[in-house]
Amino acid sequence: MSLETLSSSPAALLRWYLDAGVDEAIGDAPMDRFAIPAAAPASPVAAEAPRAPAHAPAAPVVRAAAPSAAGATAAHLAAGATTLDELRAAVMAFDGCGLKQFASNTVFSDGNPQSRLMVIGEAPGEEEDRQGKPFVGVSGRLLDRMLASIGYDRSNFYITNAMFWRPPGNRKPTAEEVAQCLPFVERHIALVDPAVLLFVGGLAASTLLANPQGITRLRGKWNDFAIPGMPRPIPAMATFHPAYLLRTPQHKRLTWRDLLAVKQRLDESAT
Ligand code: URA
Repeated sequence: MSLETLSSSPAALLRWYLDAGVDEAIGDAPMDRFAIPAAAPASPVAAEAPRAPAHAPAAPVVRAAAPSAAGATAAHLAAGATTLDELRAAVMAFDGCGLKQFASNTVFSDGNPQSRLMVIGEAPGEEEDRQGKPFVGVSGRLLDRMLASIGYDRSNFYITNAMFWRPPGNRKPTAEEVAQCLPFVERHIALVDPAVLLFVGGLAASTLLANPQGITRLRGKWNDFAIPGMPRPIPAMATFHPAYLLRTPQHKRLTWRDLLAVKQRLDESAT
C-alpha cells in the first residue's frame, strides 16, 4: 500500500497497524521514538568492565540471565509459595513484569493439577487474555484435539504457559520478560511435580531446557528437567506449537510421533 493511500485514509492506516500487530494503545501521549536521547553519563562500571576478546568462547548456557531486581523479587515470591493457590496469588500480586499492565487477565493455568502430564505453552493470546485461561483459542482447540488423540483432556492434564500475561499484539516476549516469569514457572513445575512435562513451542522449550536451539532441533527428544530442590528430574519432551501446526500441517505427523512417545512414557511410568 502506498504512503499516499495510508496518509489519506485513516481506515487504511489502522488496517496497516493491525496487520503489523499494533492492536493496543499503550500510552496517551505520542512518543517520537526517533528522537536522539541526550548522551547518558558514562557508567563507571561499564568503563571498568574488561571487554571480551573477539575470540572469546561463547558463554555457557544458563537457564536464566543474571536476575534483575524484578527477577530476584519473582524468585523470592515463588520460593515462598508452598501450594498452587499461594503461587497463583504470588503471580497475581507480582508487578515486576511489564506485560501485566497491558493484559486484561493473569493467565495462570487450567486442567487438573493432580495430573501426571503437565503441558507448558508460550504466552496467552487474545482469547486467553480475555478468558484468563491458557489455550482456549484456535490453537488451544487444536492442542486439545491432539492430546485427546492420546487419551488426555483437561480432566487428566494440567496446562500453563511460560508467560502469565499476553504480550501486546502477540509479539515475542523479551528475554527480560521471560526471565521475570521463569522463577514462577519453575516453582509451578515443582509444586505440580508431574510424571512427564510437554513443552509446546520454541519459547517454552528453549527457556525451560536452557537450550537456545530452535524447536525443530529440540523436539522429539527426551530431556531431564531438573532444578535445585526437586526430588528427581522430570522427563520432558518438546514439540511444535499448535499455532505453527495450523500454518504448517505437514509437521503434524512429527508432533503425533512426539505425543505417542509422551503417552508411552506416561503408560510405562504408571506401572
Ligand atoms: N499459545 C500459547 O502458547 N499459549 C496459550 O495459552 C495460547 C496460545
